[in-house]
Order: sequence, then C-alpha cells, then structure tokens
Amino acid sequence: MATEMIALRWLDPPDGPAIVLLDQTRLPAAETYLTCTDVPQLIDAIGRLVVRGAPMLGVAGAFGVALAAARDDDVEAAATAIAAARPTAVNLGWGVRRALAAWRAAAMGNDPVPSAQDRALAALAEARAIADQDAAASAAMARHGLGLVPPGARILTHCNTGGLVSAGAGTAFAVILAAHQAGRLERLWVDETRPLLQGARLTAWEARRAGIPHSVLADGAAASLLAAGQVDLVLTGADRIAADGSVANKVGTYGLAVLARHHNVPFVVVAPVSTVDFGTPDGASITVEHRPAAEVAWLAGQPVAPAGTEAYNPAFDVTPADLITALVTEEGLIHPVTEGNLRILGTPGGSDTGPQNRCLRGTMRS
Ligand code: MRU
Repeated sequence: MATEMIALRWLDPPDGPAIVLLDQTRLPAAETYLTCTDVPQLIDAIGRLVVRGAPMLGVAGAFGVALAAARDDDVEAAATAIAAARPTAVNLGWGVRRALAAWRAAAMGNDPVPSAQDRALAALAEARAIADQDAAASAAMARHGLGLVPPGARILTHCNTGGLVSAGAGTAFAVILAAHQAGRLERLWVDETRPLLQGARLTAWEARRAGIPHSVLADGAAASLLAAGQVDLVLTGADRIAADGSVANKVGTYGLAVLARHHNVPFVVVAPVSTVDFGTPDGASITVEHRPAAEVAWLAGQPVAPAGTEAYNPAFDVTPADLITALVTEEGLIHPVTEGNLRILGTPGGSDTGPQNRCLRGTMRS
C-alpha cells in the first residue's frame, strides 16, 4: 500500500497527472491545497515553501520528475530545473536523480522499447518507493533517538521537522513524538523560527494535533531558557550534512548548538542517511540559500522595518560537527560525529538493516 502523506498527494488521470500540496505557507490559519499540474508550478511551490523540509523536498522532487514524464515533457530538462529550485537541502537533488535514473533505466535493455507511459510509470514507482523508504527511515530514527531521551525530558527544537516534511512522522519530531508516546516528554519548547515562523506556525500545529504539551518561544528567549536549566535536550533536523559532519539546518540552529554546549546540554541532530552528502567536503562548501529581504522586513503582511531597509536573510546556517553531541539516522547513532564515523553509513537511502547504535560511545553529556 502506498504511503499516505500529509504534505503531498499524487493524482492519477483523469483528475491528474498532478501533485497536490498542502499549502504550508497558509498554516495554521488555513488548510488549503495547491494542485500542480506542471513542473513550473511545482518549482514555484518549492521556492515559496508551499512544500518544504529536506526529506519532503526529496519526495517532491521525485514526484516532479514523475509529473514531467507523465506529461511527456522534456524530462531531463525538468529534472535539472526541479533540482535547482532550492540549493541547500541535498535531498531535493537526490530524489530527482533517483526518479530520473528509474525513468532512464526503463528504456534501457528493453525490446520493444517501452512507451513514454511505461517510463513514466517507472519514475512514479520510484517516487513512491522514496516515500515508503522515508516513512521507514522516520520510524527507525524515532526508535534510535528515543534511547537518548531521559524520563521527564524537556526538549527544545527549532524549525519544523514532523509529518509536514516527511512521509512518516519526520526527523527530530519523530523522536519527540515517540518520547511523548512513551510518557517521557514533559514539555516541548518550540523556537518560533523567524523569519518564516516554521516553529510557531507548523511545529506548534503538529504538536497540537499530536497532543504534545508545548510552548512557543521567541528565538531570542532560548538562551535564558537554557540558562534557567529548563532544557534537557536540543533536537533539530538537517538539510545537508557535509562529509566532515558539519550540519546545515534552519538559520538559528548554530546559535542553539553554541548555547547547548555552553550549558552542557546535549545537542542532537536527527536526519536520514539521504541528508548526508559525501560530495560536500565541509561546512564551508555548503551552499546556503539567501532569501528575499522582505521575509525579514515584513511580518504577517505588515512591514516591521522602515521601507527600503536592507536585510541579511540566510535561510540556513552551518553547525560544526564538534558542537553536535550525536547524529541519529535510520541506521543508528553516530557519536562522535566525525567523517570516519559517517563513512560507516550506507549510501544515501541506506536501509535499516545495519547494527544499531554502532557508533555510540561515551555519555550524552559529553
Ligand atoms: O526552509 P525550510 O522550511 O525548508 O527549512 C527546513 C529545515 O531547516 C528543517 O529543519 C530541515 O529540513 C530538517 S528536517 C526536515
């Protein structure tokens, strides 16, 4: 059975081919859906963060290739354009490449040569396989991460990492949900995550739906919350993990990691193996997306700075590996986060068949 997703749904003919997206820009005020019937619409939706978050960008990218193939568009050109829609999350290009490879492979070695429809079905099957794999990875990350959550935990998180960004329960949020279901979570602290408020708008929406006790805080309040001893664990996701273990994630993550180290609180990143990019050697080599100034200078449709004010608006920042206590993947825990330990992981999209917690050493207070 195909994985059911909150964020994205595929429509077959006669209503499709199309990709239906839950419009995350309008949450929590409205639950509305955007139907993309062609690739330019999908690219626009990715750019505007209608669909977002690293694992879901991989899924969306693959379905985008399937859409181009189903329409009998120029699939190679469409794949290149989709992969370029946002630069930081490695999963986007990864999902695109996988669906494209399936589409290309369907034509090879077959006699008679398959129809455009057969090739489109091959791309669609691959997109569905990516979604299934992401759901399985999410469940495995929840299992592995749960062991790091002490009873009565107060967890601080940043941005949005739940079912809106995944075919399953998400990345960091999957661990949070598992901790809640195991009765171990006292409170979830949710950074509002300016400028686009993914924490306040989306994580609080997901936490409410899951019945998780939570409070939203201004990003600048995290320091005093940690200083007051109100946080036992910081959990975030990742958009790209370089070979040296540097983690690109939503802007503000690096500051949290510095704070967590200062206050001796574990800082743990939760991400599928598909987010690890051995092609990017280090943090400095990660392309950080810079977004329009209006996202900072405006809030909820109102200007919050004088007209014409310039803004610095990187969507992500990079946390060096030595600030990360552990990385939770579907294959187990990586601790410490070093290139050597990362190399033990399977290729992106590795399955949950490896030995569990293979790299876990020392205590999480390190
Ligand atoms: O700009 P966004 O909303 O796509 O950024 C998303 C994040 O930074 C998430 O924390 C990240 O993708 C990791 S978990 C899905």
